[in-house]
Amino acid sequence: MNAPSPDMADALVLFGASGDLAYKKIFPSLQALVRRGRLDVPVIGVARSDWTLEQLRARVRASLAEHGGIDAAACARLLERLRYVAGDYADPATFAALQRELAGAQRPMHYLAIPPALFTGVIEQLAASGCARGARVLVEKPFGRDQASAAALNAVLLRHFDETQVYRIDHYLGKAPVHNLLQLRFGNALLEPLWSRTYIDSVQITMAEAFGVAGRGAFYDATGTVRDVVQNHLFQLLCHLAMEPPARIDSASIRDEKVKVLRAVRTLDAADLVRGQVEGYRTEPGVAAGSTTETFAALRLWIDNWRWQGVPFHIRAGKSLPITCTEVLVRLRRAPSAYAHADAPVNHVRLRISPDVTLALGANTISPLDDTQVVPVEMLFSHCPGAGEMDAYERVLGDAAHGDQTLFARVDYVEEAWRIVDPALAAATPVHAYAPLSWGPVEAAALAPPLGWHAPRI
Ligand code: BG6
Repeated sequence: MNAPSPDMADALVLFGASGDLAYKKIFPSLQALVRRGRLDVPVIGVARSDWTLEQLRARVRASLAEHGGIDAAACARLLERLRYVAGDYADPATFAALQRELAGAQRPMHYLAIPPALFTGVIEQLAASGCARGARVLVEKPFGRDQASAAALNAVLLRHFDETQVYRIDHYLGKAPVHNLLQLRFGNALLEPLWSRTYIDSVQITMAEAFGVAGRGAFYDATGTVRDVVQNHLFQLLCHLAMEPPARIDSASIRDEKVKVLRAVRTLDAADLVRGQVEGYRTEPGVAAGSTTETFAALRLWIDNWRWQGVPFHIRAGKSLPITCTEVLVRLRRAPSAYAHADAPVNHVRLRISPDVTLALGANTISPLDDTQVVPVEMLFSHCPGAGEMDAYERVLGDAAHGDQTLFARVDYVEEAWRIVDPALAAATPVHAYAPLSWGPVEAAALAPPLGWHAPRI
């Protein structure tokens, strides 16, 4: 993704080192980065847990064993680079101790893998202690809960850091198939000529998860599906599907195009949002008894620009749906010919992001057994991610360490993304019940694309 650069961070500080995210995602990614030779700097864990360095090392080993396995050499190297600072995030003494551990690092990278309520305090303490000097800062999602809170957080960040030092994480951007959408669209003469209102009838993005809130009830209940995955992950997919080709393949040009397309997205009308809540959700630990938080959302969006005017973009996402799969279905207009039978499906492009990676082109042919019949076929490329491939966290952490901002949300991007969903969220639309392992509430049918919702199949 990036060549070695003089911008390489010379220390990685991990706030939230004793937390869940560190355990499940970050330590395995750090081991992978070390193994690949992309990270060879001190890693300083910071957390409130009153642990010794040995206890943190034991936690890292357990994390690796449980999530992907221990690579003896890389693990040993990571453990050797590990340091630990225990302390309260509101206490200046914690940051004085961090400053000592940094031991004169010139370009530390501070990774805030902590609850959002703590972001501002930690940023202020980093600045006051001098730890922000020459540093870059990585901020986990969710970045704000509306446009105003995102702007307030941006203001605090930009008071102490330059935008070129701020990395707002959206791990979806680290997924190879998400990035690959740009390659598919702009690197193939086959697809790009089709990619506009001239040939495309509708676009739909499905992010289905067959599991529930998985022990994250308190977080989820304060967040809901739109804030958890739509405003960030699925809007990133939307941008990759809808943006114009960048003038150059560099971070600024790519991020400019994404902001441009978001600016053309019409503010979501409350009537174009259906929220659902899975039965049984209110009895999950951490969830309020009378909660009206959505665990499912269906949206219809419009992009008011030359390329997309009049083409609906639909998003459907939720927990406890029938399968776990993220997939895009682009339906083309019916060919203007007697050969295009009205009862045959329209052509499509199907792009699966996970669990496997698929590019499928749907067309109609004559049945080999009966040449009066037309049958739909798919030309398919499919790939199952395997050993040795970079995981999303490994990619984004490695890029941040090397000073490449392409896969991170820029200040104007996050605020624009909130602008789109804010009024519809504030409208507190009804939340409709749905049965576990169904495709959400029946009310979502009212927002279906012209030829209906597409249900991905594994
Ligand atoms: C996270 C959300 O950002 O993304 C989760 O908080 C969701 O609710 C997850 O399950 C999905 O990401 P992935 O990479 O597991 O598909």
